[in-house]
Amino acid sequence: MYEEIAAKKFKELQNKDDYLILAIESSCDETSAAVTRGRDVLSLVIASQIEIHKRFGGVVPEIASRNHVSAIRNTVDEALKQANVSLSDISAVAVTYGAGLLGALLVGVSYAKALAYAMNVPLIKVNHVRGHISANYIADKSLEPPYLCLLASGGHTAIVEVTGYDDVKVIGTTQDDAVGEAFDKVARVLGLPYPGGPEIEKLAKDGKPTIDFPKGFHNKNTLDFSYSGLKTSVINYMHTAAQKGEAVNKADVACSFQKSAVGVMTENVEKALLKTGLKTVVIAGGVASNKHLREEMEKVGKKRGVNVIYPPLKLCTDNAAMIGACAYNLIKEGKGRASLDLDASASVSLE
Ligand code: KG4
Ligand code: ZN
Repeated sequence: MYEEIAAKKFKELQNKDDYLILAIESSCDETSAAVTRGRDVLSLVIASQIEIHKRFGGVVPEIASRNHVSAIRNTVDEALKQANVSLSDISAVAVTYGAGLLGALLVGVSYAKALAYAMNVPLIKVNHVRGHISANYIADKSLEPPYLCLLASGGHTAIVEVTGYDDVKVIGTTQDDAVGEAFDKVARVLGLPYPGGPEIEKLAKDGKPTIDFPKGFHNKNTLDFSYSGLKTSVINYMHTAAQKGEAVNKADVACSFQKSAVGVMTENVEKALLKTGLKTVVIAGGVASNKHLREEMEKVGKKRGVNVIYPPLKLCTDNAAMIGACAYNLIKEGKGRASLDLDASASVSLE
């Protein structure tokens, strides 16, 4: 019975804009819920577990799952309250089903399924990475495919051609570490807490790019990335200095690393813009909150006469509003409806 009602309601939503989506995200260490209407965010609540995982130097999956279980109900209730709506006002429930930590994802997926079933509304499954890209639709209400996207998160580093709301083509990707992963690992060597990205950015402000760390695949005819060489050279620099008993200017190390890491991305974006002829480029993923990256991307945009878009800080890292925005576009295309046997997936392909 539920599936028939949900399928009918899903079809009805396709030509509407003014309905409410309740979106849920729990793929890693943030429990988040949002109420969205089209590209507008009525409320966004993020219960971060960063302080809990900090002492372990990274996310502990089992601890993350347990904390999602504790947080999910209050997070959803708070999102409804802040949007000044009740469950009966919601027309669809959207949820991240992958990629991410399986146990963590399962909490959001199970909660979303129960809500959709109880309210007899469609359940929409959202790919987490597509969600990150969709944060840009909230940032720029007039954004439409085709455009280029630099995806820079803890799990992905890629250059993507977004050819339709549900169509993406990866034209360059990392061959080893993701850029966020490199930020986190370098931060650890510098003795900075998890997550490393924001910590490196903070420390880099006091430093100068005095050290010439290598840029992976620099000057090569490829849109691919490599971060393991850069990461290893920072680690070697620190170890060599420690062995020699030499003092290290950590701010300079952070600044030099950040310059190389960002340089690789902006160089590739410039090549991709030339190759594709696209006139808009967006940034997506946690690393998109990095100010140096934003500034360097602005420079590329000016140089090439291209529009550069990135989400506000709160929408760069994991959040449910981007999941709601992605679900809205899927519904419009008649895609994304999941039945109640939806399962979480640890890995989901981007394309
Ligand atoms: O997109 P995200 O929240 O999670 C994934 O889907 O992977 O990205 C998290 C990553 C972490 O590696 C974190 O260190 C990095 O984004 N990050 C940053 C900054 N803020 C978060 N990296 C550089 N600069 C930042 N300001
Ligand atoms: Zn993410």
